[in-house]
Amino acid sequence: MNLELSTLTVPPDFLTVGDLGEAQFAAALDLAEAMKHAPAGWLDALPAETLACFFEKPSTRTRVSFAAAAHRLGMLPLVLRPDELQLGRGETVADTARTLAGFCAAIVIRTFAQATVEELAAHSNVPVINALTDDHHPCQALADFLTLREVFGHLEGLKLAYIGDSDNVARSLMEAGALSGVEVVVASPPAYQAEAAARRELLDFVARHHGHAGVVEDPHEAVAGAHAVYTDVWVSMGAEADAERRRRELAPYQVTAGLMAAARPDAVFMHCLPAHRGEEMTAEVIDGPASVVWQQAANRLPTEQAIVHALITGGWSRP
Ligand code: CP
Ligand code: NVA
Repeated sequence: MNLELSTLTVPPDFLTVGDLGEAQFAAALDLAEAMKHAPAGWLDALPAETLACFFEKPSTRTRVSFAAAAHRLGMLPLVLRPDELQLGRGETVADTARTLAGFCAAIVIRTFAQATVEELAAHSNVPVINALTDDHHPCQALADFLTLREVFGHLEGLKLAYIGDSDNVARSLMEAGALSGVEVVVASPPAYQAEAAARRELLDFVARHHGHAGVVEDPHEAVAGAHAVYTDVWVSMGAEADAERRRRELAPYQVTAGLMAAARPDAVFMHCLPAHRGEEMTAEVIDGPASVVWQQAANRLPTEQAIVHALITGGWSRP
């Protein structure tokens, strides 16, 4: 066993990318890569264990990839919706956490407020994994950085331009960039940039890790020299009431073939999905040769398998 890996700690929960340090982030990607290349290699890892996956918002990729990841670890995945739980009838988050921790080895949760996953983690004595909140999408960032590493062979020195709404995905990408030497530059209209306090916190995090990040208004400035151009939906889950205004105000931020041409010639197009062709990017871009969106989606499985295994076993090494 690699001595350094065997002494590398694992955080109790995975609520933000920032719960990991630089070495832990790299270890998560290494373990995910090993798991991706040996789909049947961990079937006996966690027999008799259950993974509770609670989804308060819709999901295609995350819910199915967590279920598949649990299966590959020999676990029983239980995908739960609020209307199936007493939580939907007023049982508290704390009581739900204490109960689920009594028969599950870890809890995955997708919800609205980051405070809800923090509360769940505070009352659970098993690991809690954030499967998306309004503020963070850490599991997505792991899959995206595994994809970047596969495409370019390394992470250090890459530049990723994120175009559009500075949302949960953008924030987790910035944190991931800080941990891996990738410069992340976000281009958004001022009203769609992170609020001043959140931005300060994020830029402080990047600075503490000696990373490079920026927030600009001009998409062309962001994509200059970029190895990857990333976008996300203009109307995130929970923002539907604002849909028309968002589509109007974010229209100049559509990723087009012209914008892709302003990045490096070998730049890839990235999107966490689901995508809306004709809104945040043209069909020509997402369905074109530079798009790696299906590789990103497929990488959700091994990265989630790695994080579930590491948090439950308390180590990053292979069994
Ligand atoms: N990218 C992502 O999290 O997709 P789902 O909402 O389908 O899970
Ligand atoms: N920002 C999007 C991501 C979807 C995976 C949302 O929160 O809906």
